[in-house]
Amino acid sequence: MSNSTTIKFEKGTTQKAREKTDSWIKEHLPDHYSLITTGLPEYDDRLDSWRVSLNAKNSKLNLVGEVRLDRHVKKITDSTNLQLIIDRVNKHKKTKSRNQKVSDKSKLIYPAPVGNKIILGNSINVLADFPPDTAQLVFTSPPYYNAKPAYSEYVDYKEYLKFLERIFARCHAVLSEGRFLVVNISPVLIKRTSRNTASTRVPIPFDLHGILDKIGFDFIDDIHWVKPEGAGWNIGRGRRFAADRQPLQYKPVVVTEYILVYRKKTSRLIDWNIRNHYDQSLVKASKIGDDYDKTNLWKIHPSFNKEHPATFPEELAEKVIRYYSFKGDLVLDPFGGSGTVGKAAIGMNRRFLLIDSEKKYFELMKKSLTPLIPENTTVDFSVY
Ligand SMILES: C[S@@+](CC[C@H](N)C(=O)[O-])C[C@H]1O[C@@H](n2cnc3c(N)ncnc32)[C@H](O)[C@@H]1O
Repeated sequence: MSNSTTIKFEKGTTQKAREKTDSWIKEHLPDHYSLITTGLPEYDDRLDSWRVSLNAKNSKLNLVGEVRLDRHVKKITDSTNLQLIIDRVNKHKKTKSRNQKVSDKSKLIYPAPVGNKIILGNSINVLADFPPDTAQLVFTSPPYYNAKPAYSEYVDYKEYLKFLERIFARCHAVLSEGRFLVVNISPVLIKRTSRNTASTRVPIPFDLHGILDKIGFDFIDDIHWVKPEGAGWNIGRGRRFAADRQPLQYKPVVVTEYILVYRKKTSRLIDWNIRNHYDQSLVKASKIGDDYDKTNLWKIHPSFNKEHPATFPEELAEKVIRYYSFKGDLVLDPFGGSGTVGKAAIGMNRRFLLIDSEKKYFELMKKSLTPLIPENTTVDFSVY
């Protein structure tokens, strides 16, 4: 339990803790002394100790260990295993020299000069012809995976995941450094086929995570799109439990979808993307007001489009674009569908690149976006 009495320390205690830690590093890690620096000492009332982090030098992020000191900062009472600290410092040295090959100069970051486009084609082929830095945000929702061979477009689940890997590798290649990939994806419910079989949920987001990590994306956030009461009940999940109330039979009605947020791997902080943006007036104009989502629960009504079976709501696209891009950025949706991302992008002064492999959805995007395009803006429609 935490100690509620406020403990008063002498002036200069943190400085003393730092000095003590510094001498400890010199004594115990002499060969690595020049590579380790101390963080700001913090008093932990639960442990009644001072804690001082050990960081790899020239890096705010690379914590390699910690030492603890008694309340009076007289002696070191505990520390991370010395060999572990050494291994971490050495590992950091290696990754740092690799990263240093990427220029660290604070030059401005420009996007590739790509205009608004709506393309009919397979994104795997189409995106191969776009240059690096085409997109500054990818927001998409992949096609549905259906486990029933009769309805599925994919040989099996493994093939489906391979398909996603190829698409997201292309997205990675055209996305600017340190920018975001946001994916609306959820486990797929496979209904039972008879009384003797059980329904299952295919954990697509969890399998996708390993794929995105391998391609070169860092996981940032899982946002939960919560649909208001009522959505999801028609599927009948949980009906059996509602009747029997037997433990182990419990199955909740699913009323959420994942909005998974990833960032293209980089050693640079997000601050770098903001500071080095080519036009600071656009950065300023993109600032978000007071009315923003404070938590990762986003309550949004689902959308319905009689010409496309699987759209996401424009409100969802607007939020993602507002939080993860600047005005003037290009937003890519490799699974364009009805063009929801394009509609939101137009309203928010972003450019867009929408691709769909189905002619009917390409035509639908053309039809529904054309009236929204401002007078002085051009859009290319092309068939790949
Ligand atoms: C879930 S829908 C996207 C709907 C979209 N978010 C909206 O709000 O309208 C997925 C879309 O991906 C398209 N698609 C599937 N495979 C594709 C591929 N290889 N390249 C481009 N589009 C593809 C499908 O035709 C479908 O319209």
